[in-house]
Amino acid sequence: MNLFRRKTVTQLQAEALTDQRLKRALSATNLTMLGIGAIIGTGIFVLTGTVAAQNAGPAVVLSFVLAGVASIFAALCYSEFASLVPMAGSAYTYGYATLGELFAWIIGWDLILEYALGAVTVSIGWSGYVVSFLRDIGIHLPAELSAARGTLITLADGTQVTAMLNLPAVIIVAIVTTLLVVGIRESANVNNVIVFVKVAVVLLFIVGAAHAINPANWHPFIPPNTGIRENFGWSGVVSGAGIVFFAYIGFDAVSTAAQEAKNPQHDMPIGIIGSLLVCTVLYILVAGIATGVMSYHDLDVPDPIAVAADHVGLGWMSSLIKLGAIAGLSSVILVMLLGQSRIFWTMADDGLLPPFVSRVHPRFRTPWITSILTGIGVAIVSALFTVREAGSLVSIGTLLAFVIVSIGVLVLRIREPELPRTFKTPLVWIVAPLGALSALYLMWFLPWRTWERLIIWFLIGMVIYFLYGVRRSKLAKPRV
Ligand code: ALA
Repeated sequence: MNLFRRKTVTQLQAEALTDQRLKRALSATNLTMLGIGAIIGTGIFVLTGTVAAQNAGPAVVLSFVLAGVASIFAALCYSEFASLVPMAGSAYTYGYATLGELFAWIIGWDLILEYALGAVTVSIGWSGYVVSFLRDIGIHLPAELSAARGTLITLADGTQVTAMLNLPAVIIVAIVTTLLVVGIRESANVNNVIVFVKVAVVLLFIVGAAHAINPANWHPFIPPNTGIRENFGWSGVVSGAGIVFFAYIGFDAVSTAAQEAKNPQHDMPIGIIGSLLVCTVLYILVAGIATGVMSYHDLDVPDPIAVAADHVGLGWMSSLIKLGAIAGLSSVILVMLLGQSRIFWTMADDGLLPPFVSRVHPRFRTPWITSILTGIGVAIVSALFTVREAGSLVSIGTLLAFVIVSIGVLVLRIREPELPRTFKTPLVWIVAPLGALSALYLMWFLPWRTWERLIIWFLIGMVIYFLYGVRRSKLAKPRV
C-alpha cells in the first residue's frame, strides 16, 4: 500500500487541457470578480470593529497589513500552481502532484473547513443581517425561524421563545445552490452584479467618511498591552491579524474554477492576485477610516462600518451598508459553495469519494450532484447550529492549506525544475518559505481550542481515508 503515490504533473496537465466536461466560460475579469466576490464579506463588515476594540486599537490597520502580506505570499504560490496544474481540485490536486495521495486527502479534507464551514459561517451571518434589515423596514420574521435550534430569544414584550431553525440561512443556501447547478456563466453574471454593489458601498464609505478623520483618534496607535496576550500591544496586533485573516479568505477559491476558465494558464494568476490586491487596499482604507473617525472603544458592535458612517453624519448610509453586506455575503456563499463542490467533484473523480457524485449535468455542464449535496449539508448545519468560534476554525483550515501549498511549490521546483511554468512565483526561495512561515505564525496565535478541533477533524478524516479512499483510489487499481 503506497500512501504517497502521486499523479504526475504532465498527466494532470494533459487531463486539465483535454477535459471539457465542465463549461469553459470564465474570462480574466470574471475570475477577478469571483475572487472579490469571495473575499469581501463578514471580515470587513464585522471583524474590523471587534479587532480594533479588543485586540489592536487603531493598529487594526497593521493587523490588516500583516494578514494581507501573508495572503499575498500564498497568492503568489497558488498562482504558480493554478497556471501549471489548472484543475478544479486546487490545493488538493497540487498536493496530489507533489506530496502524494495521503497529503492530498488531508488537504482535501482540510479544505472542507475553509469552504463548507466558511459557507455555513457566512450564511448564518447573512441571516442575521437580513433579519435586522427587514426589522428596520417593519417586517418581522418569526423569531422561532430565525436562529439556530434551541436558541432562546427574548421578544420585545419580554417573553421568550425557543428557536427551531434558521430559515433565512437555508433559503440563501438553496438559492445559491440552484444558481450553481444551472450554470457557471449564470453564477458568474450574478456574482458580477453583487460585487459591483458591494464594492460601490465600500467606496462610498471611504469617500464619504474620509473628510471626518480626526487624527487624535489614532493616538495611541498601538495601545499598550493589558497583560493578556490578545489585548493590545504588538501581540494584540498579531492576534488581530489572525482574526482579520478571515477577511482575506476566498482569493484561493478562484483556483477551483480553473476548469471553467477560458484560458486558465494565463488568467488564473490575474484572478487570484488581482482580486487580493484590490481587497487589500480597500481593507486598509476602511480600517484606517473607521478608527480615524471615532474612538476604537466604540467600534465593538456587530455593524461597526454602519456605526462609523452614522457617527460622521452619514446615517442614511446605514441601511445601504446593511444592503451592501447582505449582497456581499451572498457572493461569498456563492464562491465558497462553488469551491467546495469542485473539490468534492475532483476527489470523487480520483476515487477518494464515491464516483457517482462526479457526474456532470448533461445540459448545464456543472458538477450538479456535488453542488446539491454540498448545498444540503451546508443548509442543514446552518439551520440547526450556532457557529460560535467557527470563524477561527475556517481560518486555521485555510492557513494550513497555505502552508502546504507554499511548501508544495518549492518541492515541485526541486523535483521538476524544467516544467514550463507560465507564471513563476517571484523570488520563490524567499516568498514561499515566508508564505509558509507567516501562515504558521498566524496559526500559532489562534486559540488552542481551535487547534483541538482541527486535530479532531483530521482524526475523523484519517478514519474515512483508511476505510474508503485508500482502496478505492484510482491509483490503487492495477493499470490495464
Ligand atoms: N473573506 C470572507 C469574509 O470575510 C470569508 O466573509
